[in-house]
Amino acid sequence: MRTPLIAGNWKMNCSVEEALRLLDEMLPRLSAIQGVEKVVCPPFVALAPLARALEGADVKLGAQNCYFEPKGAFTGEISPAMLAPLCQYVILGHSERRAIFGEDDALVSRKVRAALAHGLSVILCVGENLAEHQAGRTADVVINQLQASLEDVLGLDRVVIAYEPVWAIGTGQPATGHQANHVAATLRSVLRGLYGPETAERTRILYGGSVIAANASEFVDQPEIDGALVGGASLKPDEFVGIVNKAAVRLAPQ
Ligand code: PGA
Repeated sequence: MRTPLIAGNWKMNCSVEEALRLLDEMLPRLSAIQGVEKVVCPPFVALAPLARALEGADVKLGAQNCYFEPKGAFTGEISPAMLAPLCQYVILGHSERRAIFGEDDALVSRKVRAALAHGLSVILCVGENLAEHQAGRTADVVINQLQASLEDVLGLDRVVIAYEPVWAIGTGQPATGHQANHVAATLRSVLRGLYGPETAERTRILYGGSVIAANASEFVDQPEIDGALVGGASLKPDEFVGIVNKAAVRLAPQ
C-alpha cells in the first residue's frame, strides 16, 4: 500500500517571516493527521528557517527547483548538495520551470539524477498544455516527458511523479478524477515497462492542478492517485489541512 503524500508548492510567495507564520498556523493541525506524508515547499530563502522550525516534526520540507552541478560558477543557481542538509524533497520539471524558464526534459533528467545522488527525494512533474489536451495528445505528451525526464535514472525509490495538466494549474478548473486517474494509470504502465511491476506499484503518483479541500477527495480517492501537489490552496491553512485530511480519510477503515 502506498502512503499518500500531500505536498504544498508555495511558489514565489511569502517572505521568510510570512513563511514561518504560515507554517506556524498549520503545523499543529498537520502534525495531528496520521498516515499521510506531508511536505511544504517554500521559496529557497525560507528553507533554513523552516528546517529549524520543523526539527522533530512530522512534516517534511522541499525545495521547488535545483541545478544539477554540485557547486561552481553558476550564478543564481542552488545545488542539490546545498539543499540536502536542509530538506528532504525537491520539485523538478514543474510546468512553470518548463514554460517560463525553458527547461527541457534533458535538463530535468540531469537534475533528477543529481538530486537523487545527493540523497534528496524528487517530485517529478509532467503534464500536457491546453493545446495538447484539446488535440487529444495527453497520453503521448506525458509518456514522452516521463521517459525523457527519467533518462538514465536507475531507480525510483525516492521518486514521486506528479501529473499536472498545465491547463488545470492555477485556473480553478481541475481535471476530473476520472481523467487524472486514467493518466496516472498510463504513467504507471510506463513505469512498469521501465522499472518492472514491483517498482511501478510502489511509486506514488500525485495529481496537481486547482486542488482545494472541496475537490481533493475526487482525486485522492482514485485507485491510481496517491495524493496531490497543491499550489494556491497550500497557502491557506484551512485549505491545505483540509486536503491532507481528505487523504487521511481515504485510509480510515470503512
Ligand atoms: P494550483 O498549482 O494548485 O495553484 O493549481 C499546482 C501546482 O502548480 O503545483
